Amino acid sequence: MDIEELPGVGAATAEKLREAGYKTVEAIAVAHPAELKEAAGLGEGTAIKVIAAARDSLQMGFMTGIEVLEKRKTMRKISTGSSALDGLLGGGIETQAITEFFGEFGSGKTQICHQLVVNVQLPEEEGGLGKNALYIDTENTFRPERVIQMAEAKGLKPEEALENIVVARAYNSDHQMLLVEKAEEVIREKGIGLVIVDSLTSHFRSDYTGRGMLSDRQQKLNRHMHALQRLSDIHNLAVVVTNQVMMRPDFFFGDPTAPIGGHVVAHASTFRVYLRKSKGGKRVARLIDSPNLPEGEAIFTVVKEGIKD
Ligand code: GTP
Ligand code: MG
Repeated sequence: MDIEELPGVGAATAEKLREAGYKTVEAIAVAHPAELKEAAGLGEGTAIKVIAAARDSLQMGFMTGIEVLEKRKTMRKISTGSSALDGLLGGGIETQAITEFFGEFGSGKTQICHQLVVNVQLPEEEGGLGKNALYIDTENTFRPERVIQMAEAKGLKPEEALENIVVARAYNSDHQMLLVEKAEEVIREKGIGLVIVDSLTSHFRSDYTGRGMLSDRQQKLNRHMHALQRLSDIHNLAVVVTNQVMMRPDFFFGDPTAPIGGHVVAHASTFRVYLRKSKGGKRVARLIDSPNLPEGEAIFTVVKEGIKD
């Protein structure tokens, strides 16, 4: 459906919207009225109406239980490369959801992201979606060399595998948010089935320091998580984010670390997986607060070929 077909959008408005980057009905549906007002010079009333029409046309309103079930049936899973980890996740990383991997440095978060941007390209019968990946890299840790090793191990042509990964370097938290908010077009054009944000929180942590900025940071993070949720929902894609942990000064019992981002990130993530290093290069993954899976642990390893049992 073209944006001209939305009620209230004439040729002139369509032109303004396109120039401002709102080229699809999906892009308009997930926009905020203030954004359209600012970017495309629409009046507030018009902006609200156009967004509502776009949402209606995509059936983003109420759904019955049966409709939810039908939508869930279109959900797909991407294998992590480890059958133990896949088992913990109920078969793999789900589309229409955000999966968060959190843990200390070297726990394997970035390695899992690399494996997933390869695996998403595999055909469905091999644990992929036959689709491509968008990698938002905030720490400059995306390594094509690593993708080549993993792609070769999966029998993919390394250059093709790299062609199928769109990498976006995010330079600060605002830039990171903008990349997600403008991702609509690249998702459509490149057939993206997986969006990675590695790391979700590092820029937010350094851009908003001090107690006085905490609520600003949480508000921004909340908006960012919602933008990611919308993408996963509308495009039936998987979102995977990584998160560091910080030491808890008030710790007495159990694990002294806690994921950054607090309740905002915790609530917005559908699946949360805590990673920790174990003996002999092994890694332990623990599933935390899943809506429909039991808590549990899985052991996997990181080797040259990628993520394995
Ligand atoms: P931070 O981003 O620093 O918080 O850590 P992370 O959780 O993203 O860690 P990452 O995924 O980068 O894990 C790095 C670890 O993976 C290394 O310390 C190695 O143990 C392992 N690793 C990375 N590449 C290879 C490889 O080619 N072969 C093997 N055997 N292990 C590797
Ligand atoms: Mg990392």
